[in-house]
Amino acid sequence: MIKKCLFPAAGYGTRFLPATKSMPKEMMPIVNKPLIEFGVDEALEAGMTGMCIVTGRGKHSLMDHFDINYELEHQISGTAKEEKLKDIRSIMDNARFTFIRQREMKGLGHAILTGKELIGDEPFAVILADDMCVKDGEEDGVLKQMVALYKQFRCSIVAVEEVPDEETHKYGIIKGEMIKDDIYRVDDMVEKPEPGTAPSNMAIIGRYILTPDIFDILKDTPPGKGGEIQITDALLQQAKTGCVLAYKFKGKRFDCGSVPGYIEATNFVYENMYQE
Ligand code: UTP
Repeated sequence: MIKKCLFPAAGYGTRFLPATKSMPKEMMPIVNKPLIEFGVDEALEAGMTGMCIVTGRGKHSLMDHFDINYELEHQISGTAKEEKLKDIRSIMDNARFTFIRQREMKGLGHAILTGKELIGDEPFAVILADDMCVKDGEEDGVLKQMVALYKQFRCSIVAVEEVPDEETHKYGIIKGEMIKDDIYRVDDMVEKPEPGTAPSNMAIIGRYILTPDIFDILKDTPPGKGGEIQITDALLQQAKTGCVLAYKFKGKRFDCGSVPGYIEATNFVYENMYQE
């Protein structure tokens, strides 16, 4: 039902400089797999096959990663090393990749609006690949959980997580009424509130399902916090005129846009998921 997933990946990743000077943050490996590939796996599990990536200058390796590398493949063909390409080959067989460039980095909301050309007029998912989500047991991946919810409610949904009070200023924060276990109807939302002013400690993480009317709202959304066009501001507008849900997902999230989160994710994957 939701067939496309948008990956805004045009940001500068300044927290990882100098590594991100010429390498996209989304290509940073967690052990031996780039962040973006974890996101693509999650979207495929949720039934999506259209991977729409918003890139920027100097982000060619994102495109190359999901393409054939003839020289390399020829070189290792028939050897045991071919096994190492099994997963990425399966992704390439099962997904279609499209790319568009965001020319000016005017914020996440602007990156999502840039993706309109690839999405068209249908509901879609968004993954911020630097928020890496893994299963914490047998349950479905976060995006698959959200798709199930979308089938029931047919409106935009943001994934949220409770964060300590002293960290609310780093996130978009929602306020809402609980309408069911772990599901809230959003009535307020604020991007990176000043310390001590957050309406709750429910932080939006990098997973969204958006209905396509968000594009028209984004077109009219003025720059907000940090002078950037914020998806949070557009979603608040959508919540006021329609419905936006927040979903406290099951699973584990690592903030791989920050050094401690990246190290934590690396250790987790090495200990629990990596196979020689
Ligand atoms: P972040 O603010 O976390 O990423 O944006 P950043 O700007 O790349 O990182 P820092 O803060 O400088 O270290 C959240 C997501 O939105 C994308 C980023 O690529 C990231 O996935 N983004 C942000 C865009 O695609 N375009 C933008 O203009 C801004």
